[in-house]
Amino acid sequence: MLSLKKKYTWLVTGGAGFIGSNLCNFLIKKNQKVICVDNLFTGKKENIIHIKNLKNFKFIKKDIRKLNYSKTFENIDYVVHLAALGSVSRSIKNPRETNSVNVDGSLNVLKLCNLINVKKFIFASSSSVYGNLKKEFKVEKDKTIPISPYGISKLTFEKYTRILIEKYQFRAVGLRFFNVFGPNQNENGSYAAVIPNWCNKILNNKIIELNGDGSTSRDFTHVENVIDGILKSCFFKQKNKFEIFNLACGKEISLNTLLKNIIKISGKKPKILKKPFREGDIKRSKAAIKKAKYYLNYKVKINFETGIKKYINGIVK
Ligand SMILES: NC(=O)c1ccc[n+]([C@@H]2O[C@H](COP(=O)([O-])OP(=O)(O)OC[C@H]3O[C@@H](n4cnc5c(N)ncnc54)[C@H](O)[C@@H]3O)[C@@H](O)[C@H]2O)c1
Repeated sequence: MLSLKKKYTWLVTGGAGFIGSNLCNFLIKKNQKVICVDNLFTGKKENIIHIKNLKNFKFIKKDIRKLNYSKTFENIDYVVHLAALGSVSRSIKNPRETNSVNVDGSLNVLKLCNLINVKKFIFASSSSVYGNLKKEFKVEKDKTIPISPYGISKLTFEKYTRILIEKYQFRAVGLRFFNVFGPNQNENGSYAAVIPNWCNKILNNKIIELNGDGSTSRDFTHVENVIDGILKSCFFKQKNKFEIFNLACGKEISLNTLLKNIIKISGKKPKILKKPFREGDIKRSKAAIKKAKYYLNYKVKINFETGIKKYINGIVK
């Protein structure tokens, strides 16, 4: 993990969510100053409970669409913009809501970054921008053909940033995350990601749902790899105004393999309810991570097998 020798001020949007809270907790451990903006739509105060009263940490409950300039935001060095409405299914049900937060809200954060003139703007994009591209590894320069409103919203903001950043003084990096998992991830509700959802149900002897035949694959990535990638993208020497990087493990894990791993680690035998393949879901997903390795010195520190063990052992205790 990158060591942070200097003290910087960070703005983390979506900082009470899964990835955001892992980032805030890490930054505070490294003696950084953090301002977290989150409207707690899917995020939880419990995720930041251990840091919320610390002097170096400030929580602002606010919708990113209503974020305006104020003195609080002066002297911010790095902005990591993670606030968004996730979930492909949610976006199919309510595309306007997803667009409003992920595009309009993100544009508002970018506008604020320009007003306060930050050092760098890092934002979360997604593997969903590639859609069902028929290629083994998804490379950053590949065609982007999203197949869900969520994917469209992420790609649209990438495109806006590419254009708008040319007029700004600072640089921007878009990070295409591929199915991140780890502590503080939402495990309940119909929009929960497969790993927290299955692990929680299996450990509590509940029936799990399997969409499709189990051959659907994802490049599951432990959140510690992602935090490392976020930090490295802040500090690498960036020539171009805008760069895109895939952040993942570069391995394809099918749902069947995921299930086998959970069963082996937990020692449980779950009941499975088979359901049809979900609309808007990508069938196969694997990232090429060469670009991040080359420019960011990004390394997969926790592979899938170690990560899933760490995650399950963490929720059992
Ligand atoms: N987790 C993954 O596998 C994954 C994969 C690809 C991309 N991403 C992206 O990474 C980012 C973080 O994802 P996550 O998994 O931590 O999701 P999350 O839902 O746990 O976190 C998102 C946070 O944003 C907040 N938020 C939502 N709408 C907001 C608004 N209008 N104003 C202020 N805050 C708002 C939520 O309350 C939540 O705390 C998102 O941009 C997501 O699209 C995640």
